[in-house]
Amino acid sequence: MVKGVIFDLDGVITDTAGYHFLAWSHLAKEIGIEIDEEFNEKLKGVSRMESLEAILKYGNKENEFTWEEKEALATKKNEHYKELIQNISKKDILPGIEALLKELKANNIKIALGSASKNAPVILKQLGIEEYFDYVVDANQIKNSKPAPDIFIDALKGLNLKPEEAVGVEDAEAGIEAIHGAGMVAIGVGVNGDVNVNSTEELTYDVILRASKVC
Ligand code: BG6
Ligand code: MG
Repeated sequence: MVKGVIFDLDGVITDTAGYHFLAWSHLAKEIGIEIDEEFNEKLKGVSRMESLEAILKYGNKENEFTWEEKEALATKKNEHYKELIQNISKKDILPGIEALLKELKANNIKIALGSASKNAPVILKQLGIEEYFDYVVDANQIKNSKPAPDIFIDALKGLNLKPEEAVGVEDAEAGIEAIHGAGMVAIGVGVNGDVNVNSTEELTYDVILRASKVC
Protein backbone atom coordinates (compact mmCIF):
# COMPACT_ATOMS: atom_id res chain seq x y z
CA MET A 1 0.00 0.00 0.00
CA VAL A 2 1.34 3.40 -0.97
CA LYS A 3 2.19 5.66 1.99
CA GLY A 4 3.60 8.68 0.21
CA VAL A 5 3.69 10.62 -3.03
CA ILE A 6 6.62 12.80 -4.09
CA PHE A 7 5.70 15.45 -6.62
CA ASP A 8 7.89 17.39 -9.00
CA LEU A 9 6.84 21.06 -9.14
CA ASP A 10 7.56 22.64 -12.53
CA GLY A 11 5.23 21.06 -15.09
CA VAL A 12 3.40 18.85 -12.59
CA ILE A 13 1.91 21.20 -9.99
CA THR A 14 2.12 24.39 -12.01
CA ASP A 15 3.18 25.27 -15.51
CA THR A 16 6.29 27.28 -14.67
CA ALA A 17 8.18 25.28 -17.32
CA GLY A 18 7.06 27.86 -19.89
CA TYR A 19 8.47 30.72 -17.78
CA HIS A 20 11.81 28.93 -17.36
CA PHE A 21 11.92 28.60 -21.15
CA LEU A 22 11.08 32.27 -21.69
CA ALA A 23 13.78 33.43 -19.27
CA TRP A 24 16.43 31.06 -20.67
CA SER A 25 15.68 31.87 -24.31
CA HIS A 26 15.88 35.60 -23.53
CA LEU A 27 19.25 35.23 -21.82
CA ALA A 28 20.57 32.87 -24.51
CA LYS A 29 19.64 35.38 -27.20
CA GLU A 30 21.63 38.09 -25.40
CA ILE A 31 24.76 35.96 -25.72
CA GLY A 32 24.04 34.96 -29.31
CA ILE A 33 22.44 31.54 -28.80
CA GLU A 34 19.01 30.58 -30.14
CA ILE A 35 17.22 27.81 -28.29
CA ASP A 36 13.90 26.24 -29.22
CA GLU A 37 11.21 24.28 -27.40
CA GLU A 38 12.71 20.98 -28.55
CA PHE A 39 16.06 21.82 -26.94
CA ASN A 40 14.20 23.09 -23.87
CA GLU A 41 12.91 19.55 -23.22
CA LYS A 42 16.49 18.68 -22.23
CA LEU A 43 16.48 21.44 -19.58
CA LYS A 44 13.38 20.22 -17.78
CA GLY A 45 14.23 19.05 -14.26
CA VAL A 46 17.84 20.13 -14.68
CA SER A 47 19.38 22.57 -12.15
CA ARG A 48 19.98 26.24 -12.92
CA MET A 49 23.75 26.00 -13.42
CA GLU A 50 23.54 22.75 -15.37
CA SER A 51 20.89 24.31 -17.62
CA LEU A 52 23.22 27.23 -18.34
CA GLU A 53 26.10 24.85 -19.08
CA ALA A 54 23.87 22.90 -21.48
CA ILE A 55 22.84 26.11 -23.29
CA LEU A 56 26.47 27.27 -23.61
CA LYS A 57 27.48 23.87 -24.96
CA TYR A 58 24.57 23.91 -27.44
CA GLY A 59 25.83 27.30 -28.70
CA ASN A 60 29.48 26.17 -28.74
CA LYS A 61 30.31 28.81 -26.13
CA GLU A 62 31.19 26.58 -23.19
CA ASN A 63 34.73 27.97 -22.96
CA GLU A 64 33.86 31.64 -23.40
CA PHE A 65 32.90 32.53 -19.83
CA THR A 66 34.61 32.43 -16.45
CA TRP A 67 32.85 30.83 -13.49
CA GLU A 68 32.00 34.30 -12.13
CA GLU A 69 30.50 35.32 -15.48
CA LYS A 70 28.45 32.13 -15.57
CA GLU A 71 27.17 32.83 -12.07
CA ALA A 72 26.18 36.33 -13.17
CA LEU A 73 24.34 34.92 -16.21
CA ALA A 74 22.46 32.38 -14.06
CA THR A 75 21.50 35.13 -11.60
CA LYS A 76 20.29 37.31 -14.45
CA LYS A 77 18.10 34.50 -15.75
CA ASN A 78 16.71 33.93 -12.28
CA GLU A 79 15.89 37.61 -11.75
CA HIS A 80 13.95 37.59 -15.03
CA TYR A 81 12.25 34.31 -14.06
CA LYS A 82 11.22 35.76 -10.67
CA GLU A 83 9.68 38.74 -12.46
CA LEU A 84 7.72 36.39 -14.74
CA ILE A 85 6.33 34.34 -11.84
CA GLN A 86 5.61 37.20 -9.45
CA ASN A 87 1.86 37.15 -10.16
CA ILE A 88 1.27 33.42 -10.16
CA SER A 89 -1.43 32.34 -7.72
CA LYS A 90 -4.01 29.61 -7.07
CA LYS A 91 -5.36 30.00 -10.61
CA ASP A 92 -2.03 28.66 -11.92
CA ILE A 93 -2.27 25.29 -10.19
CA LEU A 94 -2.59 22.70 -12.94
CA PRO A 95 -6.04 21.06 -13.32
CA GLY A 96 -6.84 18.32 -10.80
CA ILE A 97 -3.79 18.86 -8.61
CA GLU A 98 -5.40 20.52 -5.60
CA ALA A 99 -8.24 17.98 -5.54
CA LEU A 100 -5.65 15.19 -5.62
CA LEU A 101 -3.63 16.76 -2.78
CA LYS A 102 -6.85 16.96 -0.72
CA GLU A 103 -7.72 13.33 -1.43
CA LEU A 104 -4.22 12.14 -0.54
CA LYS A 105 -4.42 14.03 2.77
CA ALA A 106 -7.87 12.59 3.49
CA ASN A 107 -6.38 9.12 2.99
CA ASN A 108 -3.39 9.82 5.27
CA ILE A 109 -0.90 9.62 2.42
CA LYS A 110 2.19 11.70 3.01
CA ILE A 111 3.13 14.33 0.43
CA ALA A 112 6.55 15.74 -0.45
CA LEU A 113 7.87 18.13 -3.04
CA GLY A 114 10.92 16.84 -4.90
CA SER A 115 11.86 19.86 -6.98
CA ALA A 116 15.25 20.94 -8.32
CA SER A 117 14.12 24.56 -8.07
CA LYS A 118 15.50 26.93 -5.48
CA ASN A 119 12.35 28.99 -6.06
CA ALA A 120 10.08 26.09 -5.05
CA PRO A 121 9.15 27.25 -1.49
CA VAL A 122 8.15 30.71 -2.76
CA ILE A 123 6.08 29.20 -5.58
CA LEU A 124 4.23 26.81 -3.23
CA LYS A 125 3.41 29.77 -1.01
CA GLN A 126 2.14 31.83 -3.95
CA LEU A 127 -0.03 28.91 -5.07
CA GLY A 128 -1.43 28.65 -1.53
CA ILE A 129 -0.82 24.91 -1.23
CA GLU A 130 2.18 24.72 1.10
CA GLU A 131 0.08 23.29 3.96
CA TYR A 132 -0.49 20.04 2.02
CA PHE A 133 3.22 19.23 2.01
CA ASP A 134 4.77 17.20 4.82
CA TYR A 135 8.25 17.77 3.42
CA VAL A 136 9.83 20.05 0.81
CA VAL A 137 13.30 19.23 -0.51
CA ASP A 138 15.64 22.19 -0.19
CA ALA A 139 17.38 22.32 -3.59
CA ASN A 140 20.14 24.45 -1.99
CA GLN A 141 21.16 21.42 0.09
CA ILE A 142 21.23 18.90 -2.78
CA LYS A 143 24.58 18.27 -4.41
CA ASN A 144 23.52 16.33 -7.50
CA SER A 145 20.41 17.43 -9.35
CA LYS A 146 18.13 15.29 -11.54
CA PRO A 147 18.74 12.86 -13.28
CA ALA A 148 20.72 11.90 -10.13
CA PRO A 149 18.39 10.32 -7.54
CA ASP A 150 19.50 12.59 -4.64
CA ILE A 151 16.36 14.81 -4.56
CA PHE A 152 14.01 11.81 -4.33
CA ILE A 153 16.25 10.01 -1.82
CA ASP A 154 16.16 13.14 0.35
CA ALA A 155 12.36 13.38 0.00
CA LEU A 156 11.97 9.73 1.06
CA LYS A 157 14.13 10.44 4.11
CA GLY A 158 12.07 13.54 4.88
CA LEU A 159 8.86 11.47 4.79
CA ASN A 160 10.54 8.60 6.63
CA LEU A 161 9.49 6.12 3.94
CA LYS A 162 11.18 3.30 2.03
CA PRO A 163 11.35 3.56 -1.80
CA GLU A 164 8.75 0.82 -2.21
CA GLU A 165 6.30 2.76 -0.02
CA ALA A 166 6.15 5.86 -2.21
CA VAL A 167 5.61 6.87 -5.83
CA GLY A 168 7.11 9.82 -7.69
CA VAL A 169 5.37 12.06 -10.23
CA GLU A 170 7.36 13.76 -12.99
CA ASP A 171 6.98 15.49 -16.35
CA ALA A 172 10.64 15.29 -17.40
CA GLU A 173 12.84 12.43 -18.57
CA ALA A 174 15.57 13.52 -16.14
CA GLY A 175 12.99 13.32 -13.34
CA ILE A 176 11.80 9.82 -14.28
CA GLU A 177 15.43 8.66 -14.26
CA ALA A 178 15.90 10.26 -10.82
CA ILE A 179 12.78 8.53 -9.41
CA HIS A 180 13.97 5.17 -10.75
CA GLY A 181 17.46 5.81 -9.35
CA ALA A 182 15.88 6.27 -5.92
CA GLY A 183 14.24 2.84 -6.36
CA MET A 184 10.71 4.15 -6.72
CA VAL A 185 7.87 3.68 -9.18
CA ALA A 186 7.40 6.68 -11.49
CA ILE A 187 4.21 8.22 -12.80
CA GLY A 188 4.92 10.13 -16.00
CA VAL A 189 2.84 13.19 -16.89
CA GLY A 190 3.27 13.51 -20.65
CA VAL A 191 6.51 11.56 -20.39
CA ASN A 192 7.23 7.86 -20.20
CA GLY A 193 7.14 6.43 -16.68
CA ASP A 194 5.88 3.13 -15.22
CA VAL A 195 2.31 4.44 -15.25
CA ASN A 196 1.50 7.27 -17.64
CA VAL A 197 -1.05 10.06 -17.92
CA ASN A 198 -1.31 12.66 -20.67
CA SER A 199 -2.07 15.55 -18.34
CA THR A 200 -2.64 16.36 -14.67
CA GLU A 201 -6.40 16.13 -15.26
CA GLU A 202 -5.91 12.39 -15.61
CA LEU A 203 -3.71 12.21 -12.50
CA THR A 204 -6.30 10.92 -10.04
CA TYR A 205 -6.10 9.08 -6.74
CA ASP A 206 -6.93 5.87 -8.67
CA VAL A 207 -3.81 6.38 -10.82
CA ILE A 208 -1.71 6.72 -7.65
CA LEU A 209 -3.20 3.46 -6.33
CA ARG A 210 -2.58 1.78 -9.69
CA ALA A 211 1.06 2.93 -9.61
CA SER A 212 1.48 1.69 -6.06
CA LYS A 213 0.48 -1.80 -7.21
CA VAL A 214 3.43 -1.74 -9.60
CA CYS A 215 5.68 -1.19 -6.52
C1 BG6 B 1 13.37 22.48 -12.27
C2 BG6 B 1 12.98 22.98 -13.64
O1 BG6 B 1 12.21 22.17 -11.55
O2 BG6 B 1 14.09 23.49 -11.55
C3 BG6 B 1 14.21 23.46 -14.40
O3 BG6 B 1 12.35 21.94 -14.37
C4 BG6 B 1 14.95 24.48 -13.56
O4 BG6 B 1 13.82 23.99 -15.63
C5 BG6 B 1 15.30 23.90 -12.19
O5 BG6 B 1 16.16 24.88 -14.21
C6 BG6 B 1 16.01 24.89 -11.29
O6 BG6 B 1 15.15 25.94 -11.01
P1 BG6 B 1 15.56 27.30 -10.29
O7 BG6 B 1 14.23 27.93 -9.96
O8 BG6 B 1 16.33 26.94 -9.04
O9 BG6 B 1 16.38 28.09 -11.24
MG1 MG C 1 9.19 19.24 -14.05
